[in-house]
Amino acid sequence: MPQLLHLDSSADPVRSTSRRVTARFSDAWHGIGTDHSVIHRDLHTSPLPHLPTSALHWAPHLRTADETVEPSAEALQVELIEELISADVVLIGAPMYNWSIPSTLKAWIDYVHVPGITVPFDSDTAPLVGKPVVVVTSRGNDYTPGTDNASADHTTAQLRQVLEVALGMEVHFVPVDLTLAERVPALAPQIPKAQANLEAAFSAVDDLALRLGGTTAR
Ligand SMILES: Cc1cc2nc3c(=O)[nH]c(=O)nc-3n(C[C@H](O)[C@H](O)[C@H](O)COP(=O)(O)O)c2cc1C
Repeated sequence: MPQLLHLDSSADPVRSTSRRVTARFSDAWHGIGTDHSVIHRDLHTSPLPHLPTSALHWAPHLRTADETVEPSAEALQVELIEELISADVVLIGAPMYNWSIPSTLKAWIDYVHVPGITVPFDSDTAPLVGKPVVVVTSRGNDYTPGTDNASADHTTAQLRQVLEVALGMEVHFVPVDLTLAERVPALAPQIPKAQANLEAAFSAVDDLALRLGGTTAR
């Protein structure tokens, strides 16, 4: 029973581009067959508490004697990590907020990036290696490689570092640039490009959902 873990983090309940694109992926995943299930975690409407203690950054056996963790916080971390490990494919809506990611998504990362559990530390344990993750990054301006703004895209760089370099996941980025073209007068000349970007993103997630959902060869 192939399972998708779908995370959203946009704070925009009405016009969110990342939510539209992740919903399209999720619908396509469901459409493959009734055996294709989805767990949806909305990190904005049901935010995780900030990591209550740095002790949670470490697997229990790597904590020092004076590092204590509330059982409820430990239980939440176990739930989040089990949810991630048991997913066949992960889908993340990651809007660009101040050239980085929403704090709600950062909080999730702080719970699941754990040396000794999800990252090899004192053993080869690496349960996420090779697991596909699709990251939809929606950005108001244009951060296409080669443009003036490209070096300011810390959303992609941060998520690549955590998901690909540290956790070893197979990352597929689906960028959607110029989402503010219709709202910001200075970007108005770019409206046709913005519309093309959105269509390309829909097409990319349609393909990825079918490919990662197992209906075509990867
Ligand atoms: C708090 C906040 C910070 C933002 N910072 C940036 C930014 O640094 N660069 C940018 O191009 N757009 C920025 N934007 C615009 C968003 O990236 C853009 O609206 C994007 O589409 C948000 O994703 P969503 O449509 O899924 O909500 C910001 C928007 C908000 C709400």
